[in-house]
Amino acid sequence: MSRDKMVCSCLISSLILLLIASSISPSYTSKIKTASFLSPKQVMTPGSVTDPHLFDIDFPTGHIGLKGFDAEVVDQDGNPVPLHETYLHHWVVQPYYVRKGFNLSQLDIAPRDHHLGSSPDYILVRNGGLCSNRVRHYFGLGSETRKTSTYVPDPYAIEIGDPEETPDGYELKWLVNIHAIDTRGVVDRQGCTECRCDLYNVTVDEYGRALEPGYRGGLDCCYDKTQCPVRNGFDDNGNKTRTLYLKYTVRWVDWDSSVLLPAKVYILDVTDSWEPSEGSTGDVREHFCHVEYEVKPCKTNGDGCVDVKKKSLMMPFNGYIVYGVAHQHAGGIGAALYREGGEGICSSMPKYGNGHEPGNEAGYIVGMSSCYPEPVKVSYGETLIMEFNYSNVVGHTGVMGLFYILVAQQLPEPVSSLPALFQARERSLNILASLAVTVVVAVVVLKAAVVYRRQNREDGYQSLST
Ligand SMILES: *[C@@H]1O[C@H](CO)[C@@H](O)[C@H](O)[C@H]1NC(C)=O
Ligand SMILES: *[C@@H]1O[C@H](CO)[C@@H](O)[C@H](O)[C@H]1NC(C)=O
Ligand SMILES: *[C@@H]1O[C@H](CO)[C@@H](O)[C@H](O)[C@H]1NC(C)=O
Ligand SMILES: *[C@@H]1O[C@H](CO)[C@@H](O)[C@H](O)[C@H]1NC(C)=O
Repeated sequence: MSRDKMVCSCLISSLILLLIASSISPSYTSKIKTASFLSPKQVMTPGSVTDPHLFDIDFPTGHIGLKGFDAEVVDQDGNPVPLHETYLHHWVVQPYYVRKGFNLSQLDIAPRDHHLGSSPDYILVRNGGLCSNRVRHYFGLGSETRKTSTYVPDPYAIEIGDPEETPDGYELKWLVNIHAIDTRGVVDRQGCTECRCDLYNVTVDEYGRALEPGYRGGLDCCYDKTQCPVRNGFDDNGNKTRTLYLKYTVRWVDWDSSVLLPAKVYILDVTDSWEPSEGSTGDVREHFCHVEYEVKPCKTNGDGCVDVKKKSLMMPFNGYIVYGVAHQHAGGIGAALYREGGEGICSSMPKYGNGHEPGNEAGYIVGMSSCYPEPVKVSYGETLIMEFNYSNVVGHTGVMGLFYILVAQQLPEPVSSLPALFQARERSLNILASLAVTVVVAVVVLKAAVVYRRQNREDGYQSLST
């Protein structure tokens, strides 16, 4: 082989390498987009409760994969508002299809109703399960929102907006339900945040139905426009009225089925009515979720004062759990998800604040730890056990025990083929690889130039093809 030919084939192979390197996408983490939005404004006064369902909120559009959703309450100057002023009971976010040109409003829908659902004008898009009546959202947290990781691990994402799944004549939109309680100047802060019916002076629920006998507190007593009592004179004739927003930050990527794997949202509720029975399929219609429960104070004082609530549920899917996080209210001291044999899948622990500033409010749960397990395989019909612990040194009304999990149908291909190898690596590795190739190409080009110049000097103008 002549020197020219060697230079030439080396150049070509370097170019091919360069092409491969540049066609391999730096892993999709570099393609994650982030945007923050403000909800419609909420006007609050001391002791007031706001609990609206707000439709058609700002949200990224198109066929996308959601990678995270974070939120917090801010005031009209954009400053974070601490939980001891505005207690964020929960926010939940859910997609829906709406007939083009139809304006869905709060009046069209009673989301806490058991027949939450659809009409010819809109179709709510529900998560994978398990509850049939409530808890059908895609994202949702409460006071813990500032310090809870919602990041969907790579290479998974929550797929949304697939044009093939959008019914003809409909478009995809999003709604948010924000439940906030203004506790500035209230006479009993814990009573207000735990929605005690006697404090709110409530005897009928949001729909005018009498409360269930023995119901002492919870969502049925602190619905939109109810009022928790405030110390005399605190409100200064409405001087303390203020405008708040839920600021939410969405992270997403454009859908790309060559690098992303879809993960579905499932939410397990410790108050689920489901019981194993002959012929049960685990279908959502078998699951009525109470969503909240009461923790009675313990009789003996001391260390033993822990309320442990467990629930076994049959999983109606095959898949792999890739993320998990629990939702607890103040008083919560931990939650876990186990296999029937006792093997732990995920435990999620509350973080309590110890200061005054937003994100660190003493006495409040300001974060829950989330799990990123090695994907945990779950088979259809398998029973998982959830466990929620609350301290019952004092009693608590309206506490919750939800376990939010992300389930992938499929795992990534084993890291063997070249593209998969590159996809699995960090972006920096790809940059290193392209750098190396660039250096090789530069050296070869330089060498070729030197050879060419030398040949030109030695042989005069000579075609490289000789
Ligand atoms: C939809 O209805 C709401 C409430 O009735 C109203 O405030 C809003 O302006 C309407 N939007 C459109 C686009 O008509
Ligand atoms: C509680 O509500 C009843 C009517 O439902 C009313 O007569 C009473 O004054 C209220 N009490 C307080 C303290 O607001
Ligand atoms: C409103 O509150 C501010 C302090 O927050 C106070 O300086 C002012 O006098 C109050 N105004 C009225 C009308 O009460
Ligand atoms: C809940 O409490 C029980 C009894 O104290 C304990 O055995 C269990 O490990 C606790 N679970 C979690 C998730 O903290």
